[in-house]
Amino acid sequence: MSATIQQQIERRRTFAIISHPDAGKTTLTEKFLLFGGAIQTAGAVKNNKITKTAASDFMEIERQRGISVATSVMAFHYKDLLINLLDTPGHKDFAEDTYRTLTAVDSVILVIDCVKGVEPQTERLMEVCRMRNTPVIVFINKMDLEGRDPMDLLDEVEAKLDIQVRPLSWPISQGHTFQGVYNLYEKSLRLFQADKTKVAKEVIAIDDLEDQALDDLVGNHATQLREDVELIEGVYEDWEPQPYLEGRMAPVFFGSAVNNFGVQEMLDTFVEIAPNPRPRPTSTRDVAPNEPKFSGFVFKIHANIDPKHRDRIAFLRVCSGTFKRNTFYQHTRLEKKLKFANPATFLAQEKSVVEEAWPGDVVGLYDTGNFKIGDTLTEGETFQFRGIPSFSPEIFKELVNKDPMKSKQLDKGIEQLTDEGVAQLFIREAGNRKIVGTVGELQFEVIQYRLEHEYGAACEFQAKPYSKACWIESDNEAKLGEFRRIKANDIVRDKDGLEVYLAPSQFMLTMEIQNYPEITFHFTSEFKTAQEAQG
Ligand code: G4P
Repeated sequence: MSATIQQQIERRRTFAIISHPDAGKTTLTEKFLLFGGAIQTAGAVKNNKITKTAASDFMEIERQRGISVATSVMAFHYKDLLINLLDTPGHKDFAEDTYRTLTAVDSVILVIDCVKGVEPQTERLMEVCRMRNTPVIVFINKMDLEGRDPMDLLDEVEAKLDIQVRPLSWPISQGHTFQGVYNLYEKSLRLFQADKTKVAKEVIAIDDLEDQALDDLVGNHATQLREDVELIEGVYEDWEPQPYLEGRMAPVFFGSAVNNFGVQEMLDTFVEIAPNPRPRPTSTRDVAPNEPKFSGFVFKIHANIDPKHRDRIAFLRVCSGTFKRNTFYQHTRLEKKLKFANPATFLAQEKSVVEEAWPGDVVGLYDTGNFKIGDTLTEGETFQFRGIPSFSPEIFKELVNKDPMKSKQLDKGIEQLTDEGVAQLFIREAGNRKIVGTVGELQFEVIQYRLEHEYGAACEFQAKPYSKACWIESDNEAKLGEFRRIKANDIVRDKDGLEVYLAPSQFMLTMEIQNYPEITFHFTSEFKTAQEAQG
């Protein structure tokens, strides 16, 4: 008998590994795939990193992004579970892709470099996790290097990431005297051998840290370990899964990804404690994964950069029921029925056609332009999944048409590219000006190139002196009207027609927030509750 939907849900863990570039995300991903048997040798994962490429060489970047389609989702089996690991781009300029991918996972593993500690991108990623109370496990990596003191690192994580922490493993020394980790969860010791290919096998159970065996194994580091463990057990509350599942507390593991050390402990604990697919809010109600009817949403769209094949792959996260090949589903925004002949899955890094998919799974749908980020498919019911907001871009430029004969192509091109999530488009009503917002300079080059090669439109960009977009609303029409008049040049509409104020600086924004207490300034596009959106 085939597994029930509830059994399918319980088998699944859908998560992402996130980090500031260079902390070790790619390396850790590779080790997980090795444990899952999805790859056989180290070095098999194509490095999805773009950091070492000059900004002007964006064709190379797009080529690398092409490679990353295959690694966008890496499904593998571990123990009796099916793990869906969603990849996120390492390059800062593609941060928004990462934020959106986080809307499709049920938990994350956050990698921190023990030498560098909490870095800027780590903080921003954590803010996004906090918006949805996503459960987070922290992996402090590179313990084979002379890094910061583990206690200090824990304090920094708590302070900068504003989350309670609870170490579940503890390093015995670090850098060139790194001995191994003590697993506080299972009370066992694993000794370190620097080895990039093998898996550290030797696990020594130590029920009593006073045992002389500990001194025999780690020499004079034993005393320090005893003191550290006593301190940890005194300072930190007992481990409980509930605060973790509610996104209030992060268990912490120490290790060295490149040496495959401390990774298996974390993976074993991860599969035990990480949540399986949970109910998700929509514009009308919460949808439970075990509802029999299928629903899902698109969180990422990948375009084919070959102009001869202008097809795209829309990545859909299944949220409830069973997705089936060649079955008509309702595209709730377009109010149109669509079916998919060749939906793709990504088991063991190979794209293959899938017949059925379950909550937590990601399927790749070939698309000729029907989808934009956030679109929902159902078996007929009308709702939109929520929790897929736009964030404020950081760089703003006006799109200027260089060829008046091609303005239709330009309009169509920029609309499709922004549907894919390459950038955000804001329209200033006065003069119908188009302002494009991104998180990195790279996207402007990508847009210009793609508009020319895929749509035959020529454009240039003029820098705008904005630094932040805020979605505004108010019950006080008079005040809002006054603000609109005074700020006429800086008020635009986003893709959904919502009103946005573009602030020239954080200072100005703070001033306006003080001057206009009647107006609410939102920092993401999704601020209405389900009821309000309906009303
Ligand atoms: P990222 O995806 O987060 O950007 O990081 P990635 O895994 O690519 O790792 C960044 C660098 O850190 C790599 O070195 C990698 O080998 C190294 N690294 C990862 N884990 C550890 C660890 O536990 N200890 C030490 N000492 N280094 C680690 P690279 O020189 O940039 O690349 P490569 O030539 O080694 O591939």
